Amino acid sequence: MEHIKEIVQEKYGQAALRARTGASSCGCATSATSCCGPDPITSGLYGAGETAALPKEAVNASLGCGNPTALADLHAGETVLDLGSGGGIDVLLSARRVGPTGKAYGLDMTDEMLALARENQAKSGLTNVEFLKGEIEQIPLPDKSVDVIISNCVINLSVDKQQVLREAFRVLKPGGRFAVSDVVVRGEMPDAVRTSMELWVGCVAGAMEEREYKDKLARAGFSEIDVEPWRVYSGGGVAPEADGKFMSAFVRARKPLN
Ligand SMILES: C[S@@+](CC[C@H](N)C(=O)[O-])C[C@H]1O[C@@H](n2cnc3c(N)ncnc32)[C@H](O)[C@@H]1O
Repeated sequence: MEHIKEIVQEKYGQAALRARTGASSCGCATSATSCCGPDPITSGLYGAGETAALPKEAVNASLGCGNPTALADLHAGETVLDLGSGGGIDVLLSARRVGPTGKAYGLDMTDEMLALARENQAKSGLTNVEFLKGEIEQIPLPDKSVDVIISNCVINLSVDKQQVLREAFRVLKPGGRFAVSDVVVRGEMPDAVRTSMELWVGCVAGAMEEREYKDKLARAGFSEIDVEPWRVYSGGGVAPEADGKFMSAFVRARKPLN
């Protein structure tokens, strides 16, 4: 497990350094290819209206597979936490949405990503933002301190997804929302097909099957669970059997009020 974490950290450390030198990021899908071309997973996630006010380095560093802040219902004064915040794009977008009376936290384990995110925050001029170092399996925030958890293509990288969901539940306030973009598999798939597809998608520890995701959320205590397909992948010819079964989904749930 530690080995997988080290591989993930090394990969995203390198991605952060590339983004800082001005090169566009290699997204999930480009990990299996030799260079960063247009990426079917990472490209075109944000509208020009959303990114216009952000530092271009934050936009270049985007490595997600969705746009959780566009789909999450964020209100002025709320506290938002982004699990695996990378270069900080969704944290900065959230900070604008919750305004000066709210707060947006980003959590990431990779030093190079944290350095990039903090530089992007400084360029953005936003002050209601804090980037924390740590692991999503052990969130360094108190119980019941967050209104909304967002995340963009990170939970699929965790080697202990149930623990991530338990921690998300712990830090949410009663009634708090879980609003996450993630790669999800729909239906059963032979191991070999899954492996080749995951290499293509580049998500090392594996995407969860839709039913498994819902079960794990329920086991952590969540209610109002919903998995909504957002972009369904053809598989780029890598694994024709997987066509239409791998998707970027928007995963929603709520912590019950009591
Ligand atoms: C695919 S990138 C997504 C970054 C960002 N959410 C975005 O949309 O651009 C994954 C990020 O999650 C971080 N990460 C992966 N596993 C993590 C873990 N277990 N704990 C904390 N951060 C993690 C990586 O360091 C990396 O910055």
